[in-house]
Amino acid sequence: MPKKNIFDFVEMKERGEKITGLTAYDFSTASIAEAAGLDWLLIGDSLGNVIYGYSGTLPVTMDMMIVHSQAVRRGAPNTFIVGDMPFMSYQKSVEDAIANAGRFHKEAGVDAIKLEGGRRITPQVKGIVDSGMLVQGHIGMTPQSSGQMGGFKVQGNTAEAAMELLADAEALEEAGVFSIVLEAVPPESSRLITGRLKIPTLGIGAGPYCDGQLLIHSDMLGLYQVFTPRFVRKYANLAEEMTRAYKEYIKEVREGKFPAEEHFYKMKAGEAEKLGKLIKGLPMRK
Ligand code: KIV
Repeated sequence: MPKKNIFDFVEMKERGEKITGLTAYDFSTASIAEAAGLDWLLIGDSLGNVIYGYSGTLPVTMDMMIVHSQAVRRGAPNTFIVGDMPFMSYQKSVEDAIANAGRFHKEAGVDAIKLEGGRRITPQVKGIVDSGMLVQGHIGMTPQSSGQMGGFKVQGNTAEAAMELLADAEALEEAGVFSIVLEAVPPESSRLITGRLKIPTLGIGAGPYCDGQLLIHSDMLGLYQVFTPRFVRKYANLAEEMTRAYKEYIKEVREGKFPAEEHFYKMKAGEAEKLGKLIKGLPMRK
């Protein structure tokens, strides 16, 4: 399937065809995601939690994001991929934001980058867009500023807060983003925003009315055990399946059932006999 572009995403919105996205952080899962037919993949700074075991995303650096984005690009060469700008890679200045967005493109070959925030980051969005790159917005629950929200809390759950979110979404669209991720907002708010914007909305914990859905792959596969948000459906329980496989491996190694003959390498013809003669009389421990 050819790689989708921003015009395909807008057409999908217009046709009412849902856009499917997942996070990916490594080569193997990215190649499986591409073969399965995902429309786009996000190299999320959620890798701070699910890959590196931090309690949040703030410690994630540009260098970490670049390495994982390169792996995802190699695994999914024909999928639209978005690199997530980590904390402090765009907040300080427009120049910083442009330089770091440029690194994602030059070093990892991403198709777009994502920034968290609404009206307060429109100068950065404009700067990156004016430099010729694609920007995805992210509003609602934005983990990089969760301290200001009093934790990982639902956003836009009052009429006034919904109108504030809409103002952020409209400002981002005006600044040039090609799509907006809505995280942890009630369906009434995401329906309003989705209905007002020309660009697609991609919901994670934002109900059924968004133009597309996004989940963190480690959540939907049942891999990440620390915390599962309410909005996650587990499509597999890989933690259970991995535990079963690990236990079976331990058992078979202990019982001498693994490795079996089909896993051995063979010596060249006649060499085993030659070796037998060479070591004849050599004391052995076993
Ligand atoms: O880092 C991430 O995976 C994200 C999604 C939760 C939207 O930003």
